Amino acid sequence: VGFAALTAVISYFCGCFNGAVIVSKYILRDDVRTHGSGNAGLTNFHRTFGGPLTLVVILLDVVKAVAAVLVGTWLLGSAVGHGAPVWVVLGKYWAGLFCMLGHMFPCMFKFKGGKGILSGGTIAIMLDWRLALVCWGGFLILAVMTKWVSLGSLSTGITFPLMTWVLYQNWVLLLLGLIIGGLIIWKHRGNLRRILRGEESKFSFHRKS
Ligand code: G3P
Repeated sequence: VGFAALTAVISYFCGCFNGAVIVSKYILRDDVRTHGSGNAGLTNFHRTFGGPLTLVVILLDVVKAVAAVLVGTWLLGSAVGHGAPVWVVLGKYWAGLFCMLGHMFPCMFKFKGGKGILSGGTIAIMLDWRLALVCWGGFLILAVMTKWVSLGSLSTGITFPLMTWVLYQNWVLLLLGLIIGGLIIWKHRGNLRRILRGEESKFSFHRKS
């Protein structure tokens, strides 16, 4: 229990390093959450500011997710599970969940964070290439076809828990996968409403004013 709690706390704080908030607030001195969709994520950062700093946002969100998953692998996978595959996977899911909670609800940024797609996508890659392939594949196909990034993102809320079950057939992992998928869908509820009304903004490589 102690190791699980420690993993949760460390991963949560890794997740709090929200790239879009840090770069916009401390480098550009213009909080991304006061622009566009108000979301503290890569899509809204690109929509609002664009430019090379977008790469810094990506780097921060990827690195913090990798760090969190490594913490889970070490603390639960190695220290508790002595490297047993099921413990390694459990450690990754557990750390991934808390990293996403930190990204979505960062305590040092008034609990207003992002929707967890880049961090979740990184966690998926660290978990299993087949899970990553299905989640990223579905995301890219939908996002490219409709130009609604959020529709692609929403699909991962379904493919993530689905692939968790397909790969592991483990109820605990399924529960963690469902919580992660549920958080993604809940965070995108506004996007879903806009998609249904046909009012969701479309992605463009060019910055919008
Ligand atoms: O990953 C975030 C994306 O799915 C939606 O972002 O800013 O359009 O709400 P946004």
